[in-house]
Formats: sequence, structure tokens, C-alpha cells
Amino acid sequence: MDDSSNTNATTAMPQKNHSYDDHIDHHFHSNISQRHQHSTTTILPLNSIIIIIISIISLVLILSIFLIIVMLRRLKSVKKHGSCKENSGIHNTSSRFIAPTTIDLNASPADVKGNCLYGGSMRKPASAYRGVQVFTYKELEFATDNFSEANVIGNGGSSVVYKGVLADGTVAAIKRLHRDRKQGERAFRMEVDLLSRLNSPYLVELLGYCADQHHRLLIFEFMPNGTLQQHLHHPSSEYRPLDWGSRLRIALDCARALEFLHEHATPTVIHRDFKCTNVLLDPHLRAKVSDFGLAKMGSDKTNGQISTRVPRTAGYLAPEYASTGKLTTKSDVYSYGVVLLQLLTGRVPLDIKRPPGEHVLVSWALPRLTNRDKVDDMVDPAIQGQYSKKDLIQVAAIAAMCVQPEADYRPLMVDVVQSLIPLAKNFNSVNSPGFLRFHRQSSGLKY
Ligand SMILES: Nc1ncnc2c1ncn2[C@@H]1O[C@H](COP(=O)(O)OP(=O)(O)O)[C@@H](O)[C@H]1O
Ligand SMILES: [Mg+2]
Repeated sequence: MDDSSNTNATTAMPQKNHSYDDHIDHHFHSNISQRHQHSTTTILPLNSIIIIIISIISLVLILSIFLIIVMLRRLKSVKKHGSCKENSGIHNTSSRFIAPTTIDLNASPADVKGNCLYGGSMRKPASAYRGVQVFTYKELEFATDNFSEANVIGNGGSSVVYKGVLADGTVAAIKRLHRDRKQGERAFRMEVDLLSRLNSPYLVELLGYCADQHHRLLIFEFMPNGTLQQHLHHPSSEYRPLDWGSRLRIALDCARALEFLHEHATPTVIHRDFKCTNVLLDPHLRAKVSDFGLAKMGSDKTNGQISTRVPRTAGYLAPEYASTGKLTTKSDVYSYGVVLLQLLTGRVPLDIKRPPGEHVLVSWALPRLTNRDKVDDMVDPAIQGQYSKKDLIQVAAIAAMCVQPEADYRPLMVDVVQSLIPLAKNFNSVNSPGFLRFHRQSSGLKY
């Protein structure tokens, strides 16, 4: 029994061993298969990486072939359109100030016919934007009846301005620059260069120019209501005193014009000669800023440039600009403040006929502007009773900020615009809603 049990035991052992070997064998095989599986999983990502790389390369290749085809097609179409090279962006719909271009002052009307106003450097204007035309001196002689005295509408420091009728029937203001002025050429180029590229309803529109031999003329849209100066300081039967509402709208239009120059023109433009004689009025007494002969372009509006040439008109100059020539957009803000004071008080910036202490408008007005009891006394008698005390105090506060002697304390024009919008809107909706509605439709100007 024992033996049998032994034999059983011994026979049992190999059986036992067999199953163990089987187990080992199985384990071994499963290890191999696992290893095999493992090795295949490490190979697979490599394959997919290669596939990905190949597809990226082919994608890049397809894209570059596509780009080359597009560029070749463009080249072909440019050649097709003749010698007038396109300068993308110059007359696009937003028509902001894009980049300086060279003006070919010898461009002839023949160039206009070929739409190459700037010796082929500017593209044909979009239909929405008429563009700047080149005129011959003869054409302008004809338009102004040989520059007849009867057609003179303005006499600036550097020019005489005539009313004229162009060949297509357009009534225009034709500005003939004095020949003997040293700065005339610079002013001429600046006005053409700036106004041909700036497009804002708050800036006077340049229709064309003439650079025939030594003649330098600029042709503008005609502004039938003259200058703000004429309305404020030389009222006649033609120009009745402006009411409070019109003054607010004019103040806002001018603020928008300067905001446009400072914030939306690239590079920034500093007008440098903002004053009542350079604010023109349309048939609805909406204002447009003109006269860019002294303007400056600067890439940095906060760093003051030193300017050797300071405008002649006293009374509008920011103190730091008058004394050191340091020019920033804040110089325009000061001049704007002076014009706002003129709208408010009806006084001129400098008046030596007034009693001592009242000669300089800013010095006389500053202490009164922030005094609630005295602010009423300084208002133009022509508009007494047309405004609410609350509105008056707000406009006076804006003016006071703009004429701060310290440039840093003056606001940005964008802030002035934002402060004036509710005042102008409020006044119109309360007093003349019909006018407001008509006006929005007719002039395209906003509030
Ligand atoms: N577009 C215009 N419409 C009507 N009058 C104008 C126009 N442009 C200028 N004027 C009149 O001519 C004057 C001088 O024009 P301006 O451009 O200021 O010349 P300047 O550079 O010589 O000062 C203005 O003050 C205004 O009376
Ligand atoms: Mg002027």
C-alpha cells in the first residue's frame, strides 16, 4: 500500500512536474507573446509618426504650390492693369491715414485721365471716394473768372481763397498760395499729402490741386457759411449770432475732428493751427476743420517734438509750445479750449481794448470757469437764457480743463468728445428734434 502509495506518489510527482513545466512553458510563451505584443506596440507609434510627418510635408507642399499659383495670378493681373501701380489701403473705405507717399507736383491732367494722380503711385479711388484731381492753372483761371476780386472769400496768412465753379459745375473754394512765402511749398505739400489720405466728415474735403509751373493752388469743397470767426465776432445780416445749441454742435464737431487726427490717423497728426478762422461751417452750421498747412505728423503723440516754426496767431498757443516749441497733441487741446471759450463768451483770445486784466481771454476766464456764482457772468450776452445752469457748468469745466497751463492736466480729445455728446444730444432732443433728424439724414454727421 505504502509502495503503491509511493508509486502513486512518484507517479504523482512527474505528473506534478509536468503540470509545472506546462505552467513554465505556458508562462514562457505568454511572456514571449507579451514581449512580441510589446514590441509591436512600440513599433506602431513610430509608424504613425512617420505617416504624420509625411502628411504634414505633403500638406505644406500643396499649400506652397497653391500660394505660388495665387501670386503668379496676381502678378499677371497687375501687369494687365497697366502702369498705375496699386497701393493697397490708400483709398480703402475706412480711408485712414495710411503711409506717406511722394507727391509728383508736375503731374499733369493727362495723368488724371490715366488715374495716376501721384505719378502712378496711388491707385484709382474707390467710387465712394471721389479722390483728388489735378487741375491746370488755366482751368482754375476759368473757374474763378481770372481770379477776380469779386470772388475772394478769404484772406489767410499765406493765401487768398476764391469761390469758383469747376468745369463739371461743382462750386469750390480755390486757395491760391502766395508765391513769395518760404514755407508755402511745405504747406502746400502738407495739405495735399494729408487731406488726400484723411477722410473724415469733420475735416474739409480736398477736391484737387494745381502745381502748374510756379503756381500752387488747392481746391476744396465750398463751405457756404464761412468761418466760425465770422459768426462769433463779425455777425452781420448774413451771419446771425449762433444759438447755444449750434455752439454745442460746433464744439462737438471740432472735438471729433481733433480726436480723429490724434487717435485715428496713423501716424498721429497734430493740427498746430486750430483756431476760429480755420473752422468752416456748412449750410446747416455743422463744422469742419481746415487749413493743414502747419500740421505735423508724429509717430508718438506723447513725446513732444521740438518745433522751430511756431504758428503766428497769438492767443491760441499752449504755453509750453509758445515758450519752448515743445509740440504734442495737448497743444491742440489747449487751442481747442480757447475756441470753446470763444463759443462760451463771444470774446476774442486777445483784446487790448478791454479793461486791464481782461486782455487775455484764458487768464480772465480761468478763475470764473470753476466758480458757480461767476460762471453766468462770463457767458456771451447773445445766448443768455438759452441754456440750463447744469449744462453751462459742464461746458465751463471742459473748457477749464483744456486750457490748463500744465499739458498733462489737459484731457484727451476723445474724453472731450465723450463729455460733449450727452450735452449736444440732450439740447437737441429737448429743443429741436426735427433739426436733429433732418441733420442726420442730410450731412451724415453723428452726435
Ligand atoms: N473751403 C472753404 N470754403 C469757404 N471758405 C474758405 C474755405 N477755405 C478757406 N476759406 C476762407 O479762406 C480763409 C483762409 O483759408 P485758410 O485755408 O485758412 O488759409 P491760410 O492757410 O492762408 O490761413 C478762411 O479763413 C476762410 O475764410
Ligand atoms: Mg487759416
